[in-house]
Order: sequence, then structure tokens, then C-alpha cells
Amino acid sequence: MQRKLPDTLISEEKIAKRVNEIAAEISADYADKGEIVLLGVLKGSFIFLADISRRLTIPRAIEFIAVSNYEHGSIPSGAVRLVMDVRESIADRHVIIVEDIVDTGQTIHYLHEMLKSRSPASIKTCALLHKAQKTKVDVDIDYVGFTISDEWVVGYGLDYAEHDRTLPYIGVINPTD
Ligand code: IMP
Repeated sequence: MQRKLPDTLISEEKIAKRVNEIAAEISADYADKGEIVLLGVLKGSFIFLADISRRLTIPRAIEFIAVSNYEHGSIPSGAVRLVMDVRESIADRHVIIVEDIVDTGQTIHYLHEMLKSRSPASIKTCALLHKAQKTKVDVDIDYVGFTISDEWVVGYGLDYAEHDRTLPYIGVINPTD
């Protein structure tokens, strides 16, 4: 039987418009700073990073990092673990961490603290989505695409157990579907 596609929360058109706006904002903010490093957090940020990087009008390098959440059984403990580091040094460079979604804020907080200790020239954060009501850790997100409520979303890089990552829009998983 064919599975029902997730309901649309944010359409392709709305994502594209917001990505253009954020890219313009970043391009203006770093116009006189030379090259920036866009540091994508795998896997969820890969589509957002691909789109945003192609819309910047400033020099940029691309790096990736991967983290996972320590689990006790199948329950995430909240502690974050680095599973793949960046290849190049970020010392004296302008870094923007690119995340798919900030939920509790633990991942972005961990990465921000860890990368800050490596002496970048500056470090900012950019997230396509923010579940603001759920964020427990005190984090500054410098560029936010959309603030959403506490629902599990998929598509545009985000998954549910590896499903729906390549949907072109942001959809909501309905537990009864
Ligand atoms: P945080 O550390 O609680 O902020 O969680 C961030 C990570 O949890 C994201 O990078 C995603 O991998 C994952 N995540 C949180 N909420 C969702 C969601 O609604 N859909 C897909 N992934 C999510």
C-alpha cells in the first residue's frame, strides 16, 4: 500500500524565499570580512546548506561535522558526541554553524562551545527551524528560518528514522498515519 505523504507545514516556495532572505542577510553582514566557513551539521543540514551556499554573494568554504546523541537504550540522554570532525582548521576564520533544526538546543550549544575553543575569528549560528518552546539551553541563534511548534517535522534534509529526508517541503509526521 502506498504511504500517505506528510502534510505540508512549510512549502517549497516559502523555504526558497526565506533561504534567499537569509543568504542576503549573511552576505551583507560579512561583506567586508573575506571568506567565511559554512559548517554544516550532518546529516540534516545538507540540503539547507547546499541552497544557502549557492545564494551567497561572498566567498565561502564548506565544511561538515557530525554529531550524535548518546542514548540510554533508545532514549536520547541529551549528551552530544562528536562522530566526525571538520577537516580544515577553523582558527582565525569566520565560522557559521548551519543546523537543520534547534530543538532542546543541546547540539548547537555543544558545537558552539567546542568550536569556540578553537580560536575562530568569529562564530555564529544559523538554523532553518527552531522549536522555540522546547529549547532548554540558553542559545543564541543568529539566523533563523522559521520558528515552529513542538511537532516532528521531516523533509528538506530532516528525517524520521531516515525516512522523508528528500521531500522538497517541510512536512509534519502525524502519528496516526
Ligand atoms: P537538539 O540538540 O535537541 O536541539 O536537537 C537537534 C537535533 O535533533 C537536530 O539536528 C535533528 O537531528 C534532531 N531533531 C530534533 N527535532 C527534529 C524534528 O522535528 N525532525 C527531525 N529531526 C529533529
